[in-house]
Amino acid sequence: MSFMLPKSMDRSNRLPKTPQRRVEPGTIIAVASGKGGVGKTFMSITLASAFANLGERTLLVDGDLGLANVDVQLGIAPETDLAAVIAGWIELEDAVINVDGGAGKGGFDVLPGRSGSGALAELSPEEVARLAAGLSSLSLQYDKIVLDLGAGIEANCMRLARAADKALMVITDDPSSMTDGYAFIKVLRGYAPDVEQHIAINQAPNRATGQQTYEAIAMACRQFLGFRPTLAGVVMRDEKVREAVRRQRTLISTDPKAQPIQDAIAIAQTFVTRGKRPHLPI
Ligand SMILES: Nc1ncnc2c1ncn2[C@@H]1O[C@H](COP(=O)(O)OP(=O)(O)OP(=O)(O)O)[C@@H](O)[C@H]1O
Ligand SMILES: [Mg+2]
Repeated sequence: MSFMLPKSMDRSNRLPKTPQRRVEPGTIIAVASGKGGVGKTFMSITLASAFANLGERTLLVDGDLGLANVDVQLGIAPETDLAAVIAGWIELEDAVINVDGGAGKGGFDVLPGRSGSGALAELSPEEVARLAAGLSSLSLQYDKIVLDLGAGIEANCMRLARAADKALMVITDDPSSMTDGYAFIKVLRGYAPDVEQHIAINQAPNRATGQQTYEAIAMACRQFLGFRPTLAGVVMRDEKVREAVRRQRTLISTDPKAQPIQDAIAIAQTFVTRGKRPHLPI
């Protein structure tokens, strides 16, 4: 498959070698699901773009190694990627690509995966740990890091999710998405109890169904896991999302008023508000 480089991609504008350091690390948000095809990549790209529009320095990471969902949906053809980082050929920050001007300049940065390269499941625990540590150190340069995870509850996915401060579980009203989403929540809770868990109901036919889907999962979590993940928001189903993916354009750039985009922007806003650390009393 070959891709056209979008005009918005500015290769000359990579991260400076001595990037500006934040005093405190930014927030890493893992976008996760038990079942595939629920809308993680759509949510990740839209959140990254929305964070950028809200003035947050943002990095989008394709954690679904081997399938490179983010490249395809953004319509970019990166020369370097996480596979090269893991192989030790380049440094993590040298694999970063600027989209729409890059982080801090109206757009956001991307750490791409690569189609056909080794999947996350094939990495050794040490390699995943190195990747997770690399992301944690990159969080010193960003306000938000959005980590688009592959579907499933396998160990490496959990190891990577553990690097996050927050997990956004993407779930639809499809029964298998609900049961697999619950399984992910349960395993992550056991594996990384400090990761704050939030739920986004995606592809909802209407708000009431979305709310009901959330309530069913939240009730099971409360009953069997002893905690209730918060509802980050309900994102409506709209064919425009699929059309945009087919055209390798982001819906947020072509039709920012579309309902699923407005819904995802509202979720991004809650993370910006919640993500702010309280000021210490003087
Ligand atoms: N709100 C929505 N309304 C309509 N279609 C949607 C919506 N969200 C996602 N989709 C469509 O669902 C499909 C899967 O979306 P996406 O690739 O983002 O899912 P994913 O969870 O990342 O999948 P995978 O597990 O394969 O990585 C795409 O065709 C996308 O356009
Ligand atoms: Mg995906």
